Amino acid sequence: MRLFLDTANLDEIRQAARWGFISGVTTNPSLAAKEGIGDLGSYREAVLEITRLVDGPVSVEVTSTEVAEMVAQARGIASWHPNVVVKLPSTLQGFEAMAQLRPLGIRVNQTLCFSLNQALLGAQLGAYFVSPFVGRLDDEGHDGMALVAEMVEVFRRYKIASQVLAASLRHPRHVVEAARAGADISTLPFKVLVQMAHHPLTDVGVQRFVQDWQRPLRIHS
Ligand code: E4P
Repeated sequence: MRLFLDTANLDEIRQAARWGFISGVTTNPSLAAKEGIGDLGSYREAVLEITRLVDGPVSVEVTSTEVAEMVAQARGIASWHPNVVVKLPSTLQGFEAMAQLRPLGIRVNQTLCFSLNQALLGAQLGAYFVSPFVGRLDDEGHDGMALVAEMVEVFRRYKIASQVLAASLRHPRHVVEAARAGADISTLPFKVLVQMAHHPLTDVGVQRFVQDWQRPLRIHS
């Protein structure tokens, strides 16, 4: 399972790129707005910087909800860089836009996916990634990870090429469960990536090794 970073924060992406863990980035309008990005021009500048930091897919979401405007935005966004994947929502308008973009060879990340039915529709349209939103389903009292598992099972059974991109992950246990469910990719907030690295026994072990190494040598006779 590959790991993507779910952020538009360039400092976080720079640090994660130095660690070498991540092979892609996902953004959305909320994450962009959090970084003070308020128009497609500045979104483009940030995305181009991300493509310099990470050699892998960078998902960028359209901001319109209307088919013609989504298609126009998607065509513009896809032209920014070859690594850009355009995020379109799991709505009838989003699906219609996907159908129009398909012959153009534009790679799509079907976002805001909350059911296997929605995932199956995106798969018909050749979505490159389909993103089940685990945390948001959990927030509503559903089992978000069950959707990831269902998608993996069905996509494999029918040899569907769309990749399952587990999204809206909130804690390290989500990452473990997504890996066990067979997700192709998990996209994580920076905090969760850091949490994945930490274990208290590792810290205690490192401390003990350092202390033992610094102890004066005992001379055995
Ligand atoms: C990723 O593609 C999604 O935009 C993101 O994971 C949503 O996460 P959230 O539900 O925590 O906002």
